[in-house]
Amino acid sequence: MLVSAKEMLNKARDGKYAVGQFNINNLEWTKAILLTAQEQNSPVILGVSEGAGKYMCGYKTVVGMVNGMLEELNITVPVALHLDHGSYDGAKACIEAGFSSVMFDGSHYPIEENIEKTKELVAECEKLGLSIEAEVGSIGGEEDGVIGAGECADPNECKAIADLGVTMLAAGIGNIHGKYPENWAGLSFETLAAVKEKVGDMPLVLHGGTGIPEDMIKKAISLGVAKINVNTECQLAFQEATRKYIEEGKDKQGKGFDPRKLLAPGFEAIKETVKEKMELFGSIGKA
Ligand code: 13P
Repeated sequence: MLVSAKEMLNKARDGKYAVGQFNINNLEWTKAILLTAQEQNSPVILGVSEGAGKYMCGYKTVVGMVNGMLEELNITVPVALHLDHGSYDGAKACIEAGFSSVMFDGSHYPIEENIEKTKELVAECEKLGLSIEAEVGSIGGEEDGVIGAGECADPNECKAIADLGVTMLAAGIGNIHGKYPENWAGLSFETLAAVKEKVGDMPLVLHGGTGIPEDMIKKAISLGVAKINVNTECQLAFQEATRKYIEEGKDKQGKGFDPRKLLAPGFEAIKETVKEKMELFGSIGKA
């Protein structure tokens, strides 16, 4: 059964480790992440962006697929199904569809509007026992070839949002989605420490987990990060393994064209990536 992310994140915060959120794109992705979590006895959060939700035929399809897998694969570790960077309407749709956790990303609104909308969704999630993530300070990334640097959140705004009763808070600290540019300045630990000081016990979320050096990940965890999002890295691992299979001509040998064979190397590569991240985040054996 899906669970809220609240308990696993509070435990991670207290135990000084982080739970990985791994974004899913299809059945292979979901199965790879769930099986790895079970094998490593680790809690896990499955992230679904609005785009990926659409791609997978809607939130109800996603909920059906994930619930089916939890049962059929005998997954007993804590699993949360979480909307990633949701709009207000997207968050409502996921709550309705049976997600156990949502993110409302109101970081692009003026802070008053972010507060107003977050507050409404907090009330709704509270009623149903779901967890909710909010965001302050936008997380940059590549858009149309232009790489945004990633804003640093205002600690006072973080406190205003944390005080609404969200479960976890994503604060921009110079992190971005996708690959980091050569001249990236690194995470702003100054901002992270200032945010932590204001929000107290609130588990913090680090987006853009792909490509952040290990020492920075560990330092971020020591400063209160309890959830780390990873998406691109699994995509790159899948791409590389699939490319190798085809370039070696394996799809042309025997029944190598069978999708169950063609997608197997990519599936294994996702499993390996998820395992490495769980090791780095310290969540192994913490289910
Ligand atoms: P990456 O794609 O950089 O790993 O970021 C994932 C993320 O933060 C999803 O919200």
